[in-house]
Amino acid sequence: MDDFNPVHAETFDSPHDQFRHLRDTCPVAHTSAWGGFWALTRHEDVAMAAADSDAFITSVQNVVPKVAFTGRRPPLHLDPPEHTPYRRAIAPLMTGRAIARLEPIARQICADLLAPMLAKGGGDICADYGAFLPIRVFAHWMNLEPDQIEELSAVGRRYNIAVQSAQEAETKEASLLLYDMARAILADRKTNPRDSEADATSALLAVRVDGEPLPEDMIVGTIRQVLVVGIIAPTVMIGSIAVHLCRFPDVQAQLRADPSLIPLAVEEFLRLYTPYRGFARTPRHDICLHGRTMKEGEAVALIYASANRDERVFDDPESFRLDRPNMKDSLAFGRGTHMCPGAALARMQLTVALETLLAGTGSITAAGPVIPTRMPEIGALSVPLNLVPRGGA
Ligand code: HEM
Repeated sequence: MDDFNPVHAETFDSPHDQFRHLRDTCPVAHTSAWGGFWALTRHEDVAMAAADSDAFITSVQNVVPKVAFTGRRPPLHLDPPEHTPYRRAIAPLMTGRAIARLEPIARQICADLLAPMLAKGGGDICADYGAFLPIRVFAHWMNLEPDQIEELSAVGRRYNIAVQSAQEAETKEASLLLYDMARAILADRKTNPRDSEADATSALLAVRVDGEPLPEDMIVGTIRQVLVVGIIAPTVMIGSIAVHLCRFPDVQAQLRADPSLIPLAVEEFLRLYTPYRGFARTPRHDICLHGRTMKEGEAVALIYASANRDERVFDDPESFRLDRPNMKDSLAFGRGTHMCPGAALARMQLTVALETLLAGTGSITAAGPVIPTRMPEIGALSVPLNLVPRGGA
């Protein structure tokens, strides 16, 4: 019998009720949904599995539900040691120092996206603001040309909607279009090489393993991987943050009065509204935990969103608090070998997005029902808002 049902209709909050129940009664839970998988819901178990990439591998299945398979995409789809050269090539381009040049660009993008929303008194923060910001920032990070930025906006959004609405054929088609884009970027960098300390594709082309370059299809896979991982989570996060601001006008007031608190608030929002519940691993051998045996080859979801609300680690975990002494325990960006290399880029965008939104508005209120995302993400897919410009009536 199934321990839980991940496919019934959900609200924005309901998955968290389910996770709380599982953490207390069945921390290693099994369901037959989507071909069958285990769910780890407690912080210590999720952290252990994420950190142990020998026992829990990503090369079999890296997400639940499994998406239409269109190829191996490093670094996420590979285990060490194959994983390492791809990650080493792109990670230095994502440090706080390396992405500092993008902050004024992100600020301009946010201002341009917010202006029409303010002019018409509101809009859907996910569709009108959150969906475009990460694609455009990311496109600048990848040094794409203006026409490629537009193309990525369109295809990235199409892919996102197809995954969210479980349209397998459309997901596969959009994924293949993203592959075409990745191939075009690679072809361009081969003929027009750029500084490998400032361009991700050129950095991948410069890598040598035992004197050999990385295989081109795997470089294409890496570009294709970052084309998507970098855009979905920030969109969901911006939607979830907006839901919170509508529910708690006092938080809006506090952050407007003291914007220096916003980076800390972003950290707490990342804990409270961790946007992922479907990153997966596969045990390399049978593993017994809390009396249950996860067999070799079975999918295991690391429910980061549940781990970050585990009352065993975070006091009063459902509350938004800026005074948490153990914020470093947050698993919003994962842990171990596959821990998010884009965390600095994500934090910068979310901080700038929130600063711009709060500075431009006097009040933010809900204008309709929130549509939640589905697995593998968790959070908001659509959040209609009324926006009153700062100083407005
Ligand atoms: C709010 C924003 C984001 C969140 C919450 C987030 C979260 C995560 C998490 C939890 C993982 C680990 C997956 C696992 O354990 O299997 C991950 C991996 C990854 N993320 Fe992010 N991410 C965000 C934004 C970004 C951005 C902006 C980029 C790049 C532009 C990015 C690039 C990656 C890559 C390449 C990996 C795979 C790393 C590897 O396998 O070594 N992420 N992310």
